[in-house]
Amino acid sequence: MRPIAAPLLQWFQANKRLLPFRQEPSAYHIWVSEIMLQQTRVSAALPYYERFVAELPDPAALAACDPDKLRKLWQGLGYYSRVANMQKAAQIVCRQYGGQLPADYAALRALPGIGDYTAGAIASIAFGIPAPAVDGNVLRVFARLDNSSADITKPAAKREFTARVLEEMPKERPGPYNEALMELGALVCLPNGAPKCEVCPLAAQCRGRAAGRAEQLPVKTAKPEKTLVPVTAALITGPQGVLLQRRPSKGLLAGLWQPLAFEGTAMTQPELDAALHAIGLCVQWQAPLQSTRHVFTHRIWQISGFCGTAAGPAPEGCVWASRAELNGEYAVPSAFAGIMRQWRPGKKASRVAWLLTGEEIFRRPCCGEWCGITLIPEPFCVKNLQGKDCIHPVNRV
Ligand code: ADE
Repeated sequence: MRPIAAPLLQWFQANKRLLPFRQEPSAYHIWVSEIMLQQTRVSAALPYYERFVAELPDPAALAACDPDKLRKLWQGLGYYSRVANMQKAAQIVCRQYGGQLPADYAALRALPGIGDYTAGAIASIAFGIPAPAVDGNVLRVFARLDNSSADITKPAAKREFTARVLEEMPKERPGPYNEALMELGALVCLPNGAPKCEVCPLAAQCRGRAAGRAEQLPVKTAKPEKTLVPVTAALITGPQGVLLQRRPSKGLLAGLWQPLAFEGTAMTQPELDAALHAIGLCVQWQAPLQSTRHVFTHRIWQISGFCGTAAGPAPEGCVWASRAELNGEYAVPSAFAGIMRQWRPGKKASRVAWLLTGEEIFRRPCCGEWCGITLIPEPFCVKNLQGKDCIHPVNRV
């Protein structure tokens, strides 16, 4: 065995986490877990994983699942195209492979949503095929082991480290080897300058450590700055619950539900009122919403808006949802969780707007200070986070 594999596998055997998909490592279980773990920490993904495989125990159940139910099962995990692609792939698996994931790297790689990494993970862990599975953890481990200054965000570095992963792979144990590398990256060879070299089974062979550079590696070019996108939300409640609007069937958060919202604009209350009148909604406004932020891969939503009440039929594409329906049926993305939490039936709306730190959008004419309220239609009483009141109106700059 190559020098890395033996101590690595021994360490993995003694230290691996007891994860549910390791107890029953079927190809379906590995697939579901690897897709969930792509953008999500293990601890956060576990309850989702348990619920998902209990509800949808095999590719046939996933293929036949109502897409709304599927999005609800995924609610809070983000990157919803992952689960839409899984369903498309499950349908192909049922049509072409009799409901079982194929034990073949190229056939797995051809399925929607399955890239090099996921195909390698399923092929090696579930089927024992000697394919590499190189994620961010593995890139970091090899950049340090090899004391390499290759930029791991670049395809050339990924090719270089994939070749190294294959070179060191014990061909009779590819699954445990791939998982051990991932686990080492997750538990020991930690990112952001914090490797735990003192407990690393590969410390003696680590050229990055020998050169005193483990903490500086890997080299990664910084991601481009995210664009700040204003969003105006209207949290409208009525006798039948809260008004939800379905998002378009394509694009960001496709098919999910949200409070009525307008992307790309920070609207004043009269502007929002006019936009809602145009779709037949007459709202009794109560107060500004506490603004929230949600960070996506390429953009940040700065969500502000107002809450109010309305009655009558829901406009086209919208529904009135009771609390039970909201909890049980309608998938609302986390981006709007902070807004939805402001729906507190029975509680009188407060006319206090909170200043949030770090959102330099407005300034108070009284003292010229910046503050973070996105929209203030009236001279509301404004409180800052230190508890100091300001009764002056706040103007948009
Ligand atoms: N991250 C993604 N997949 C993993 C796995 N199978 N084991 C440990 N960490 C992981």
